[in-house]
Amino acid sequence: MKEKIESLRKHLHEVKIESAEQLEAYRLEYLSKKGKIQELFGEFKNVAAEEKPLVGQWVNQLKNQAQELFDRVKDEFSNQNDQSEKKEDLSRPAFLPYQGARHPISLVRKEIIDIFNRIGFVISEGPEVEDDFHVFTALNFPPEHPARDMQDTFFIEKNPDFVLRTHTSSVQARVMQSQKPPIRTISPGRVFRNEAISARAHCIFHQVEGLYIDKNVSFADLKQTLLYFAQEMFGKDTQIRLRPSYFPFTEPSAEMDVSCNICGGKGCNVCKYTGWLEILGCGMVDPNVLTNCGIDAENYTGFAFGMGVERIAMLKYQVKDLRLFFENDKRFLNQFIGAY
Ligand code: DAH
Repeated sequence: MKEKIESLRKHLHEVKIESAEQLEAYRLEYLSKKGKIQELFGEFKNVAAEEKPLVGQWVNQLKNQAQELFDRVKDEFSNQNDQSEKKEDLSRPAFLPYQGARHPISLVRKEIIDIFNRIGFVISEGPEVEDDFHVFTALNFPPEHPARDMQDTFFIEKNPDFVLRTHTSSVQARVMQSQKPPIRTISPGRVFRNEAISARAHCIFHQVEGLYIDKNVSFADLKQTLLYFAQEMFGKDTQIRLRPSYFPFTEPSAEMDVSCNICGGKGCNVCKYTGWLEILGCGMVDPNVLTNCGIDAENYTGFAFGMGVERIAMLKYQVKDLRLFFENDKRFLNQFIGAY
């Protein structure tokens, strides 16, 4: 009897219970009416009278030990179940996934597109690696024009007839070649120039090109379209001013400034202390360009414009250094969370 008790006690120390089934098997083996401990109580009557007090104590201790183990493991299992139920409490409010923010350049590009969409301009796109014809020749750049110089343009080493487009005006050449007037289109995209990076310039930036070709399109149409754009973009009080300029592909040509809303016209380093910020170039499409691209210049006229998205974003969000748009600093980008 003593050996039996001793060996059962050892067993209890070694027993491993890892599942509800094992716990039940354990209960049956040790604690049930037909279990090993009950068996010991059955044998108790055969124990010599003088040993009964001591052996009785051992059997009781063994019973308590077995019961404690059962209770402890059962408790552990039911705690675990509680926790897994809590994990799946579907009534708890959800943790919203972090969605990130739209980049300010994307926001402004979308806004420009929406403004022109409202007056019937549709989007056209063209390649970033573009041939000389669409970037320069079709647009009336003479062969010796400085824009073709290594200083300004990134050439493709294997075939210098291809360049990274220096402006999105290349897309207007493609549109005119492939469509018949009336044409009313805008072309957003990335452009590339071999420029030193500073607070006001970068070697990669974004433009939106506009083109309108039909019968009797005039400079007055151009001016009114751009005034509409500036006031939609910056508010009804925004003023514009057109300064005579020169581009090979437009005649006459102009540059458009909007009143600077960073300094309110007083002058700051972004507007170079003039109160105005240049945001686009524009003009009437040069008849040579129409002809180069297969449009009848006797019957059609048109206007074109091209604007820098970074410039407009700087004005709109009062950003004083253009480099912020390219550095991916989350402290900057997180300020646009929730903007659409
Ligand atoms: N392509 C010019 C630039 O990159 C911008 C421009 C000026 C586009 C006049 C035009 C335009 O369509 O008519 O600076």
